[in-house]
Amino acid sequence: MVITPLNLAVLASGGGTNLQAVLDAIASGRLRARVRVVISNKPDAGALDRARRHDIPALHLARDQFPTADAFADHLLAVLSDYQIDLIILAGYLKKLHPRVVQAYRHRVLNIHPALLPSFGGKGMYGIHVHEAVIAAGVKVSGVTVHLSDEEYDHGPIVAQRPVPVLDDDTPESLAGRVLEVEHQLYPEIIQLFAEGRVRVDGRRAYIKDEGSGVRSQGSA
Ligand code: GRF
Repeated sequence: MVITPLNLAVLASGGGTNLQAVLDAIASGRLRARVRVVISNKPDAGALDRARRHDIPALHLARDQFPTADAFADHLLAVLSDYQIDLIILAGYLKKLHPRVVQAYRHRVLNIHPALLPSFGGKGMYGIHVHEAVIAAGVKVSGVTVHLSDEEYDHGPIVAQRPVPVLDDDTPESLAGRVLEVEHQLYPEIIQLFAEGRVRVDGRRAYIKDEGSGVRSQGSA
C-alpha cells in the first residue's frame, strides 16, 4: 500500500524536544510525514531554531500581532491551508487554539501531555507544575497521554497512554526527565498511526485499528 506522507504543522512554545523527536523519526523512516511549518507564540522558542536548522519555515505568530482573536484565527487558518496541513501537532504549545481552528481541524489536532489524563491536566498544569502535582499527590504511576484536542485544555479523545513509574526518590525534575523520554518514543508512533489512517474516533473514544482488520484501543506497550 502506498501511503502519502502526512503534512504536519508543529505548534510549540518551548525548547521543542518533541519536535526534534518527530524530525528524527521522519529522518529514520519510522514516520511517514513532513513537518511543513513550525509555529510558535514565542519569538525566541527553541523549537523555531530547530525548525530553521532543518530548513523548515519557522513562524512567530501571536495573538497580540492581530487586532482581534478572530483575525489571528483567520491568519492561522490561512497558513495551515497554504501548507496543506493534514494534522496539527501541539508540542508544548501553551496557548489555547481558537475554537474556529479546533472546529476546522476537528479530530486533526494532537496534543501530548506529560501525565495520565484526566488527572493532572487543565489550565496551569504544564511543565514542571505537572510533575510537582504528581509527586505531591503520592501517586505511584504517572505517564504520557496523547490525545485529540478540543475546545478545553487537556481534553478530547485519548489516543494513547503509556505509564511511567513514580519512584520513591523522584524529584519533579527526575520524573520529568523519564516522562520526556517516553514522550519522544510515543508521539512519533502515534502520529504514524494517523499517517496510516488507523485512528478512528467515536464520541469521546479513539480506537486504533490493527494492521489487520481488527480494532483495539491503545494501552501501554
Ligand atoms: C512536554 O513535556 C509536553 O508533554 C508538554 O510540553 C512539553 C514540551 O517539551 N505539552 P518540548 O518543548 O517538546 O521539549
